[in-house]
Amino acid sequence: MIRFILNEKEMVTDLSPGTTLLDFVRYHQHLRGTKIGCREGDCGACTVLAGEIVNDELRYESMTSCLMPLGNANGKHIVTIEGINFPDKLNPVQQALSDCGATQCGFCTPGFAMSLAGFCLSDKEATEQNAIAAVDGNICRCTGYKSIERAAGRVAALTKDKNGEDAALFVSKKKILPEYFAGIKNRLLELSAGQPEIRNKKREAFLVGGGTDLYVQKHEEMMHADVRFVFDEPGLNAIIEEDNKCILGPSVTVSDLKHSSFFNKIFPNFQHYAKLISSTPIRNMATIAGNFVNASPIGDMTIFFLALDTHLFLSSGEETRTLPLRKFYKGYKQLDKKIDEIINSISFELPGKNTYFNFEKVSKRTHLDIASVNSAILLTMNGNKIAKAGMSAGGVGPVPMYLKKTSEYLAGKKISEEMIKEVIAVMKTEISPISDARGSREYKTLLLGQLIKAHFTDI
Ligand SMILES: Cc1cc2nc3c(=O)[nH]c(=O)nc-3n(C[C@H](O)[C@H](O)[C@H](O)COP(=O)(O)OP(=O)(O)OC[C@H]3O[C@@H](n4cnc5c(N)ncnc54)[C@H](O)[C@@H]3O)c2cc1C
Ligand code: FES
Ligand code: FES
Repeated sequence: MIRFILNEKEMVTDLSPGTTLLDFVRYHQHLRGTKIGCREGDCGACTVLAGEIVNDELRYESMTSCLMPLGNANGKHIVTIEGINFPDKLNPVQQALSDCGATQCGFCTPGFAMSLAGFCLSDKEATEQNAIAAVDGNICRCTGYKSIERAAGRVAALTKDKNGEDAALFVSKKKILPEYFAGIKNRLLELSAGQPEIRNKKREAFLVGGGTDLYVQKHEEMMHADVRFVFDEPGLNAIIEEDNKCILGPSVTVSDLKHSSFFNKIFPNFQHYAKLISSTPIRNMATIAGNFVNASPIGDMTIFFLALDTHLFLSSGEETRTLPLRKFYKGYKQLDKKIDEIINSISFELPGKNTYFNFEKVSKRTHLDIASVNSAILLTMNGNKIAKAGMSAGGVGPVPMYLKKTSEYLAGKKISEEMIKEVIAVMKTEISPISDARGSREYKTLLLGQLIKAHFTDI
């Protein structure tokens, strides 16, 4: 049984946990305000909010319901467009969209309204820029974005007096969203107290993180698959420091890293890097472990963590082992991993003093696009010489690559223009890009050279 609150109503269902939340709300609950556009996480027409209690606080995040398995709704407050309606008038978010002429055919509008409602429920500073960033996963085909941006600016103004107040209490008190939001925290606590275990422990079952790769690639299969969730078992999204290491749980998402002050202290530019990865709702669902196992040669988080000499802690039943991420990839989508092995944790040594990190990504569009080429570097300096280096690159071979020769070449060198030219020459000897929709072989080779220059310029 899967149990959660949908808008105001408690739901209990024995439907397959692999069913998408989108199908559940539209076809089982007949809530047709949530639209179907692409079913691939790109358009945002299906955006809903998922609220859960994290560290004793009710936290809402936007998610694309087309990629969200019903099992991942367990124990949460799921909000669709119907759940933010007032009975007799538009709510202030909807009113802002209407007043600013931010809707024409209206197909995308519920998605925009949900993302902006999610912004009102977040702890983000009430700036127009932050409200606009909240709709980075929503596409509109006919209105034009300027009026939507103006509406976002109005929504930001609605929340400017929040001053750290509990967001759900604030939005209901200010009549931005319906009053029932004020009681959700207690209802979720009651729900979790009597929560049945829905976790499938079968070793042969399909492992699902956020579902943002699986539901794009195997949509039909997933609907009825025997699934085993790792997304939100309690405690699995911890980001902790232990024995001079940073350790991530298997369900840590890109957004969890964005929210972690510890992680942002290690990587002060992480907020900037994260903006280059997918969109707000996808980052809210996309796990780091899922990115590693998906094994895309351009997986952004994989490239990020490869430069850090990350280790995976894998388990299958009683058997456990530790493996460097750099040895995980055997060939295109081939992993050193048994089918029932699960990544239980991810760790890397905390970069010491005199270390410098940089991540670069180039794609056809800056936002909501996959990389043509991406790269990361970790440099440890000793005086004006490089003591140790780790460089990774994606889009230049069949797997996400750790550039071993290039990294080794860097050790002991002084940084100079001449040295950078030599490094680029070494890099060319160990990559094997192919020409495809994201660029020709020559273009990708040139691009990685430019990214190496960008690493040293930034550092
Ligand atoms: C619109 C859109 C935009 C995207 N943009 C980007 C982007 O910019 N950059 C990028 O890198 N990716 C992008 N992605 C891809 C995707 O979001 C990421 O790869 C994400 O990190 C996958 O994580 P997940 O939890 O959703 O994986 P899932 O789909 O749940 O799982 C992926 C694979 O990992 C396995 N798995 C999951 N967790 C574990 C575990 N703990 N142990 C063992 N196996 C496990 C699953 O069985 C499956 O094989 C995008 C996807 C979409 C839909
Ligand atoms: S239908 Fe397009 S993101 Fe879900
Ligand atoms: S109003 Fe038509 S798609 Fe946005």
